[in-house]
Amino acid sequence: MSSAGRALRRPRTPATASGIIKPLLGVVIAAGILYVAVEAAGGRNLLDEGLRAVGGADIGTALTSIGLTMSTVSGDLEIREYCRSEHSSELAWHFRNQTVDVPFYTACPGSGWLERFQELAPSAPLMVVDIGCNKGYSSAHVFSLWAPELGFAPDTLRTKRPEVPCGTCADCNEQVLVKSTVKKHSAPLTLFCVEPSMRNFAHLILTRDAFFPPTSPPDLQWYIVNAAVSNVTGVSHFPRGCVDELCSLQGNSDGTRPRDFDYVPLTTLDALVKDYAIPAIDILKIDTEGFDATVILGSMEVLARGRVSLLTFEYHEVGVWREYALRDVVEKLDGLDYVCYFDSKQTLSRMTSCWDPAYEYYNWSNVVCVKRTHFMYAELEAMSSRFERHRAEYYAGKRAAGQGKEPTVQDAASP
Ligand SMILES: *[C@@H]1O[C@H](CO)[C@@H](O)[C@H](O)[C@H]1NC(C)=O
Ligand SMILES: *[C@@H]1O[C@H](CO)[C@@H](O)[C@H](O)[C@H]1NC(C)=O
Ligand SMILES: *[C@@H]1O[C@H](CO)[C@@H](O)[C@H](O)[C@H]1NC(C)=O
Repeated sequence: MSSAGRALRRPRTPATASGIIKPLLGVVIAAGILYVAVEAAGGRNLLDEGLRAVGGADIGTALTSIGLTMSTVSGDLEIREYCRSEHSSELAWHFRNQTVDVPFYTACPGSGWLERFQELAPSAPLMVVDIGCNKGYSSAHVFSLWAPELGFAPDTLRTKRPEVPCGTCADCNEQVLVKSTVKKHSAPLTLFCVEPSMRNFAHLILTRDAFFPPTSPPDLQWYIVNAAVSNVTGVSHFPRGCVDELCSLQGNSDGTRPRDFDYVPLTTLDALVKDYAIPAIDILKIDTEGFDATVILGSMEVLARGRVSLLTFEYHEVGVWREYALRDVVEKLDGLDYVCYFDSKQTLSRMTSCWDPAYEYYNWSNVVCVKRTHFMYAELEAMSSRFERHRAEYYAGKRAAGQGKEPTVQDAASP
């Protein structure tokens, strides 16, 4: 499915600089050098600060005037790769207010982008890696969308496996909205479900046996792997009496050290894709109760090679989030050409190059990132609060170039 990505990206090399007055040229050359440096290091927002320092020119105007565009054309959208600082702050506070007003606003997101992905690519082969597979609800979500004939959905999991607990986000009641008319899968779907807890692992095997009988199609695979994923390989211990979703490598959710534990293999995503010969990942889900930043550190090779299209992880006040800043992770991913948003029950909140300190709020949240060259970039951006509030700006360049019809939401969202 990765090959389905066909968005274009504007060339970033400067055109001729004739007709531009000298002082501006100086700014622009400085900006160009700075841009290259910043591009390498990740974090376009630094460029904004840098430009203010060299001359205070409006960054968009200065760069656009020499053909150095700071935007990406994806689908029907021309997406600006930076936010004005006043927009960043307004959008961030809109997000923070929602987290207060709407219960579990980003803690238990709707993940509408997943439904949208299925709607646009219902019959492409799919590879999913689910790290922290837990009870299998997110795996069930994927199967219910792409292979509905299995009858394996979050709200049907307990019909065959009533012993399985419901899940912190009431996952067992989640009804997946399938908008497409797909009744049956038409391409291979492979899902690696990686879970360190022996207890969950035992449950997952029984769930797999219940929904994937020997007669089920061989091109629908749910591989259950007992391992902990981190930034190093080896062996680790994991608490044995783990019944809730909050157990992690660090110990029990109440902070006590595990007394009874099991040995589990410790691996990294980079090692995992080699061991299991996974060529590319369409969706990578990471939910390791606070260790997600560490898992991302152990995925650098796969991410740097652009082998992941969409990536989701949790952001927390627990685990190694005490050591890592979300901003640093978002900037690292930006450097690898991924754009990240807070996922939520409604709109997405773009963080990449729209950063505001209000986002570093250390609370239970979900983040979704997309590779800039993937067709889902336009889809995620069209779900963002920035698009909702500043829609006209996504078509401004096109209108100026004389291509402009006033687009509808459907136009914007079509692949
Ligand atoms: C967020 O809430 C505060 C307090 O209610 C309000 O003053 C502010 O305007 C809100 N900001 C946004 C962007 O919604
Ligand atoms: C792995 O992650 C841990 C915890 O985040 C960190 O302390 C350690 O330095 C990392 N090691 C490597 C080799 O990246
Ligand atoms: C974090 O979430 C808790 C409830 O989940 C809430 O009471 C608290 O105000 C939140 N903190 C911030 C900084 O938003």
